[in-house]
Amino acid sequence: MVFSDWRQEPTTSDALQMAGWTRQGTIPWIKPASRPRKGGFKQSAEFITWGVKGTLDNNRDIYLPGHFTASQPRKDRVHITQKPLEIMQQLVRICPEDGVVLDPFTGSGSTGVAALLEGRRFVGVELSPHYADIAEQRLRAELTQDDFALAGPEA
Ligand SMILES: C[S@@+](CC[C@H](N)C(=O)[O-])C[C@H]1O[C@@H](n2cnc3c(N)ncnc32)[C@H](O)[C@@H]1O
Repeated sequence: MVFSDWRQEPTTSDALQMAGWTRQGTIPWIKPASRPRKGGFKQSAEFITWGVKGTLDNNRDIYLPGHFTASQPRKDRVHITQKPLEIMQQLVRICPEDGVVLDPFTGSGSTGVAALLEGRRFVGVELSPHYADIAEQRLRAELTQDDFALAGPEA
């Protein structure tokens, strides 16, 4: 799954397919709190382009939303493009329960927090040491004593 706005969505969709993924659709995320646009239509949506390697496993008993309406976090926001947890928690459910969620652009770690809340394992990559620290703190706050015991004493 890749988030983009209207400018990057066509390229994102092409890149996904050129990388060998089978595109499954584009999920609009409507942001009610977006700014008005003088002289034109308000740009109040982002788009989540999603695809699978091979074919979609349609034997799983899950039914996920086709669109989202949510504002970006305001209170306690620590990253300029921080994603709402209520959206991320739905998105990570596409990963099988015994699978691993990967976010190669982790930022403040919202995908990882959502993955842990939904019982999935998580691997994150973040270029900025500042945001990597924030993500680590947010992830550690979600871990239970049992998770630390499983990961061993160095966790
Ligand atoms: C759109 S933000 C992610 C925000 C995140 N979803 C959240 O809720 O906080 C993208 C992040 O990718 C990081 N980034 C950019 N290029 C990267 C790279 N080549 N490798 C790893 N991280 C990268 C940026 O530092 C930025 O924090």
